[in-house]
Amino acid sequence: MYKLLFNLLFKKMDPERAHHLAFFWIRLAHSVPGLRSLVRAVLAPRDPKLRTTALGLDLPGPFGLGAGFDKDGIGIDGLSMLGFDFVEIGTVTGEAQPGNPAPRLFRLVEDRALINRMGFNNQGSARVAARLAARPHTSSTPVIGVNIGKTKVVPEDEATADYLKSAKALAPYADYLVVNVSSPNTPGLRNLQAVQVLGPLLWDVRKAADEVTTHHVPLLVKIAPDLADEDIDEIADMALHLGLDGIIATNTTIGREGLRTPAARIEEIGMGGLSGAPLKARSLEVLERLRKRTDGRLAIVSVGGIETAEDAWQRILAGADLVQGYSAFIYEGPFWMRKVHKGLSARLRAAGYASIGEAVGKGVRQAQPTVRDHEEDNDD
Ligand SMILES: Cc1cc2nc3c(=O)[nH]c(=O)nc-3n(C[C@H](O)[C@H](O)[C@H](O)COP(=O)(O)O)c2cc1C
Repeated sequence: MYKLLFNLLFKKMDPERAHHLAFFWIRLAHSVPGLRSLVRAVLAPRDPKLRTTALGLDLPGPFGLGAGFDKDGIGIDGLSMLGFDFVEIGTVTGEAQPGNPAPRLFRLVEDRALINRMGFNNQGSARVAARLAARPHTSSTPVIGVNIGKTKVVPEDEATADYLKSAKALAPYADYLVVNVSSPNTPGLRNLQAVQVLGPLLWDVRKAADEVTTHHVPLLVKIAPDLADEDIDEIADMALHLGLDGIIATNTTIGREGLRTPAARIEEIGMGGLSGAPLKARSLEVLERLRKRTDGRLAIVSVGGIETAEDAWQRILAGADLVQGYSAFIYEGPFWMRKVHKGLSARLRAAGYASIGEAVGKGVRQAQPTVRDHEEDNDD
């Protein structure tokens, strides 16, 4: 069904317009009480065995939506209704900003990938904080991550103040907070990944978050897949040293290797971060490296190229406490989360683990019974 809708409608539309339209429908569906319950019942049933604890948070499953889809936190409950176990909003910057000129989002359908140079278009920390503050708290309120970044016009040497503004405004409403220093679309942002800059920045954000909250808000850093392996090790060591709660790996890549889309088209698209299937191998590699280095002492959220339940399962076995997806949601549609949940549940049971937490970091077991993707439900 969704494949047909994608081919007949979305594929022919400008990708950013398609995003706004689809997101509008999601919010609309959530605003109609009967429809909301129906959609939730169909798309978001979860095996209780998938319940998991990470970052000190209790979640209905390990599979969340990556940052960037809901930059301003306008549709969190609608996204939760579709079956995401948690929703990371943002990136939110200190000040509101329009982002880069359009077109700034491109589909590489043959590669099941996207290139974006959105440039943190968002309403700014004060407005997003006010929206989160106004949310009614109910039993179905999902876990909300808040991802913060630097306002484009703020110079690099004043970046800390901008992050602190967001941290102070948003930490009281965040179940976890993410310092994003890895988007390729804000000039100079990735320079903040250098540990001598990143360490003090994270330390200051930690203090700022503690000042405005009475409880511990988990703090994570989101890193790029393009870092050298030694830099990944350094960041992992620093995260442990600072007592950070976790690392999100990875953001989009500036690499363009191994794509099926013709080179001329890639050239025409130009700058931006590549996400989706081509990111899969590197994202898994970064996860494995982080796990080896940190050995379960901090939480790892793996994101990048996750398309199937098998992908998500492999990340969990490789040491991911939680996983996220974004690009595959665009290609697979609203039944994707249900499919991944069903596949994860089947794998968990086949492998004989009592919980997701038990499977984290167990590595790929040779003797493990396999559950093939085509054996799972294919009702989308
Ligand atoms: C259109 C688009 C916008 C994104 N915006 C953000 C963002 O604002 N902040 C961020 O940390 N990551 C952002 N991301 C990165 C995703 O959260 C994720 O790390 C990346 O896409 C890799 O996952 P995927 O292969 O499942 O898409 C964005 C990705 C896409 C495709």
